[in-house]
Amino acid sequence: MLTENYLQDYLKEILPMCGGILGDIQKESYKDNVPIIPNDVVRLLSFILSVKRPERILEIGAAVGFSSALMSKYLVYGGKITTIDRFDIMIRHFKENVRKMSLEDKIELIEGDACDILPKLNDKFDVIFLDAAKGQYIQMLPHCLRLLETGGILIVDDVLQEGRIAKKREDVPRRQRTIHTRMRNFLWEITHNDALETAVLTIGDGVALCHKIKDI
Ligand SMILES: C[S@@+](CC[C@H](N)C(=O)[O-])C[C@H]1O[C@@H](n2cnc3c(N)ncnc32)[C@H](O)[C@@H]1O
Repeated sequence: MLTENYLQDYLKEILPMCGGILGDIQKESYKDNVPIIPNDVVRLLSFILSVKRPERILEIGAAVGFSSALMSKYLVYGGKITTIDRFDIMIRHFKENVRKMSLEDKIELIEGDACDILPKLNDKFDVIFLDAAKGQYIQMLPHCLRLLETGGILIVDDVLQEGRIAKKREDVPRRQRTIHTRMRNFLWEITHNDALETAVLTIGDGVALCHKIKDI
């Protein structure tokens, strides 16, 4: 979290959590430290998608299906989400949760490493939510941009990593320096690409919003 404690506490107090089965998954995941999006990012995603009302969403990093199920609420009639994950335990919980919420006809899971899967995808998406291994974002970016419709939005979670990315390289522990360099390269790319209007917000652990305004 990047904001001061008193701001976080206040926002926690006023921002409602999800309801129903989705709310149960949200609460359990926070309690068990399952790495789903924090509630302020939930509110941001809900806001963006309620304005955008997409037909096709691609998510990279499904985990237990929380953000897929959240986003499915904002699809237009007949819309679909394709999501990717490679981690068996997450996949098992994902399938259980999607079944519990009867979302099988709206959410399709592709199992495997997104770095192998993305180059094989050709469908276009109105929204792409990138929330996978942070060190791989720079490798996944060209595919996200290729698969994103012009007029579409790329939403990227955890781009500031508890603020570490804003620190100087020498002030970051050695074992985190590769990811520090890669994320800085990623942020430079999305903020200097003429085809994108990009904003970087200090919500959660940093969220980047990229609007693809022209063909690449
Ligand atoms: C932060 S969690 C996703 C949380 C989820 N979006 C939510 O908020 O409900 C990241 C997920 O990405 C998956 N992941 C990370 N790198 C991946 C890759 N290269 N290919 C496929 N899945 C990946 C992990 O297994 C993990 O389940």
